[in-house]
Amino acid sequence: MSTIAFFNNKGGVGKTSLVYHLSWMFSLDYRVLAVDLDPQCNLSGMFLDERELEEAWDGGEHNNQTIYQAISPLKAGRGDIEQPHVHEAEGGDGELGLLIGETNLSLCEDDLSYSWNMCGGGDERAFRVTSMFARLIKKARSKFKADIVLVDVGPNLGAINRAALLSCDYVILPLGPDMFSLQGLKNVGMSLKKWRNEWKEYMKKAPGDAELRDDLPDGRMTPAGYLVMRHSVRLNRPTKAYAHWIEQFPAVYREKVLLAPRAAGSPGEDCIASLKDYRSLMPMAQESRKPMFNLKPGDGVFGENQKYVRRCYDDFKKVAKVIASRCQLPEPRAI
Ligand SMILES: Nc1ncnc2c1ncn2[C@@H]1O[C@H](COP(=O)(O)OP(=O)(O)OP(=O)(O)O)[C@@H](O)[C@H]1O
Ligand SMILES: [Mg+2]
Repeated sequence: MSTIAFFNNKGGVGKTSLVYHLSWMFSLDYRVLAVDLDPQCNLSGMFLDERELEEAWDGGEHNNQTIYQAISPLKAGRGDIEQPHVHEAEGGDGELGLLIGETNLSLCEDDLSYSWNMCGGGDERAFRVTSMFARLIKKARSKFKADIVLVDVGPNLGAINRAALLSCDYVILPLGPDMFSLQGLKNVGMSLKKWRNEWKEYMKKAPGDAELRDDLPDGRMTPAGYLVMRHSVRLNRPTKAYAHWIEQFPAVYREKVLLAPRAAGSPGEDCIASLKDYRSLMPMAQESRKPMFNLKPGDGVFGENQKYVRRCYDDFKKVAKVIASRCQLPEPRAI
């Protein structure tokens, strides 16, 4: 059972698009739970149309339709988190679920920031708040019987993301081929190290409640590699301009994220893939509310683009395979 976050404090590198496409790709072999912990809610916006999202945010027909609704009792001091509703993706044959995001999630930033520091004093509510996403994911994962959980987060190093990452066994870093992503790599590496160490100290003060202790995350946040997302390359820039940044990723990733000597291992072995710019397929996929590799002539895909759709399927299949092996997923079940 693996929970994997896709994270980089540089915005717009393609985190959400990756989580969306990999969720669909993994759902061919596994039961998948996608989790939208970014208050921008772009992942939820890829799965649901505006009317469905509005209904969910208004409370809709199920209890705890969004992550925010499920954690609200704890936030308001009226109890603990509740079982969240898992939205089944249309066309996902019941194998793909989503924990729906909400912009209100940003209201948790201050409480999470305060609670993190209070964990140092062994405060029980502080531990409940800090671990609320981890415990929520655990509840949903067991209800949905998910084999794998993919988590989308926003582009920052704030308290919401710290709590989100704490919920994850593995962290994968999507990078754009630019200076900002290189800097992001260093920042993320430093933050992960600090968060891991602080959580380890806090856990020595974990409260006595056996059920809560059992549900607290171990906070390993193991780095499982990076992906180079080429769509963010500006077309008129010479190849040399972005090659300069890509060449630095292997050593910086080793040193700042894996905390290993630069020379250790062979260069590039931490790179999961370099993903293409799929150009017009992406807006078509957004319009049709399906992954690019599932686009059909009925969605407006003809000629050359059909070849491109097949290539896209192969690319994502390969990426999913590498991630499955790096994150120690079980052998795919026969569904
Ligand atoms: N492989 C790709 N090919 C073409 N376009 C892409 C690709 N990946 C992402 N995009 C486009 O790039 C833009 C940014 O992608 P996305 O929203 O996934 O980034 P993000 O890292 O989640 O952003 P944020 O930091 O704001 O959460 C979107 O318009 C998306 O459609
Ligand atoms: Mg995003």
